Amino acid sequence: MCGIVGYIGKNNPVEFLLNSIEKLEYRGYDSSGIAVCNKNKINLLKKKGRISVLRNEVKKSQDFNSNFNLEINSGIAHTRWATHGEPSDVNAHPHMSQSGKFAVVHNGIIENYLELKKSLKRRNIKFLSQTDTEVICALIESLYDGQDFFKAVKDTVNLLEGSFALGILCADYPDKLIAVKKDSPIIIGFGEHENYIASDVSAFIDKTKKICRLGECEIAVFDKLDIKFYDFNGKEIKKEIISVDWNIGSSDKKGFEHFMLKEIMEQPEAIRNTIMPRIINNEIKIDNLDKFINSINKIYIVACGSAYHVGAAARYSFEKIAGITTIVDLASEFRYRTPAIDENTLVIITSQSGETADSLAALRESKRRGAKTLAVVNVVGSSIASEADFVIYTWAGLEIAVATTKAYSAQLSVMYLLIIFIAFKNNKITHDSVKKYIQNLIYLPELVTQMLELKSKIYEIAKKYNNSDNVLFIGRGVDYATCREASLKFKEISYSHSEAYAAGELKHGTISLIEPGSLVIAILTDKKLFEKTLSNIREVQARGAKVIGLVSESKAKIADLGLDEIIEIPATSVMMLPSITVIPLQLFAYYFALLKGRDIDKPRNLAKSVTVE
Ligand code: AGP
Repeated sequence: MCGIVGYIGKNNPVEFLLNSIEKLEYRGYDSSGIAVCNKNKINLLKKKGRISVLRNEVKKSQDFNSNFNLEINSGIAHTRWATHGEPSDVNAHPHMSQSGKFAVVHNGIIENYLELKKSLKRRNIKFLSQTDTEVICALIESLYDGQDFFKAVKDTVNLLEGSFALGILCADYPDKLIAVKKDSPIIIGFGEHENYIASDVSAFIDKTKKICRLGECEIAVFDKLDIKFYDFNGKEIKKEIISVDWNIGSSDKKGFEHFMLKEIMEQPEAIRNTIMPRIINNEIKIDNLDKFINSINKIYIVACGSAYHVGAAARYSFEKIAGITTIVDLASEFRYRTPAIDENTLVIITSQSGETADSLAALRESKRRGAKTLAVVNVVGSSIASEADFVIYTWAGLEIAVATTKAYSAQLSVMYLLIIFIAFKNNKITHDSVKKYIQNLIYLPELVTQMLELKSKIYEIAKKYNNSDNVLFIGRGVDYATCREASLKFKEISYSHSEAYAAGELKHGTISLIEPGSLVIAILTDKKLFEKTLSNIREVQARGAKVIGLVSESKAKIADLGLDEIIEIPATSVMMLPSITVIPLQLFAYYFALLKGRDIDKPRNLAKSVTVE
């Protein structure tokens, strides 16, 4: 996704702006740019490619190296993930209005930009790029009366349809900066003699922990070091400043080669930090849910990507242990269906970023239909967290790698808390059972640690099978759910194809793909389904497949399974198996991609938070 940053303060903005967009690189991008106000002129540079290309241009440019001796300096910068118009210098942000008076950076999509562009062209306004963002800039200029910067912006945003997080400069007001939010996130940071805006807190977490999140359809006007907030009608509003508890350590690799490996290794801590504050005197404590949980007769878990796989894994135990009908759906599908939800439905939206456009839209649709909504998110104060009726934060800490791992595991652990909590509130399990589940849960980080100790073995397996280019992950029940997450991890960072398949479904067509040397990764940890899945393994072996098995059985039983590789999984409750079996498969994906020389933390075409539909 695009990343935007802005600066206003007493210091030279250039270094802060370049360093901040570098901290947003993990969001995925194809070009970058910077604009600063110096005396009553906006200087702008933007380049296709990595930020290092932009840095070189800035170093050579007088405009960015003259001393910034104004009392207050302002600037904006951007990393672009192309939506409208190919990656190029001219399509990169910031965009500038024809007269050079305004510069804009944007994250989101303007859905009515073509009709706006046509009406502006009829007034002889010229455009250089193919982007929707340049239209925003031109519109502001067309509505500017030469006096009121804020009014021109307010009138503009009321004409825009779609999603937009904006940072805006005006050459007439070098000591002002305006930020606007509709559907795409913007965070405000309050520093020492300077203030910041950014798409997410990691851009300035090393500068300040005092933040506030622009709300839906809000405008922030920075005037020197003062800041005022308005709604889109121009009515002034008050905002609360909060402190985030992430330290700078979250945004450095701490000696690991990649953020992804660091975050894989942080999973025991992420699970512990998420569950322990909610286990008090052998009971699960989840604020506010008591009031209505008994009226719930159906649960929807709605999300995208890995967050969706969390629901796919948890569904089995919501039904088996809590005895409640549970439907799991992709947010991008859910919002265009006519889901049978009402006031007795709980819709759980899981999301690491809390900003995924489809998940946010599904949340709004659920509220519109009268459902109770619960957000399970990792980013404090994010849009999904702010708009849901209830929120349970995962305390996984800042997750930088595009491929989620520790947030996925933390979300799973929240599901276990919810399952035990709801089962007990609905008299499906006794207090003794609650205590047993809690003991299992408290021990879960230890089991995850045991899995992490297999990393050398997993590296060797990834090396041995590194020429495989079509991997099939098979399993049944919760094991099938884990296959889906494992397959996504594998694909998104190695660029090699894989597919997750319900083991029992293989013979209905897909088994035709199996040929001598095919690699099949089979998860057979649910003892009740072991024999069934083993028979599916025999079917693929009979056709020449190599099989890596994740097995939770006795040594004796494992010895004569006749699989090519065995990864032993420690026994635990079936509900929590996904948290354990996913670990070796995250490591497998990581090492497989590493051996392929892939850009592991920033895989091609991907973004950490998909804030466009
Ligand atoms: C996971 O590895 C992917 N990067 C992606 O599928 C992600 O899970 C999905 O985009 C949802 O993001 P969210 O959790 O921030 O809503």
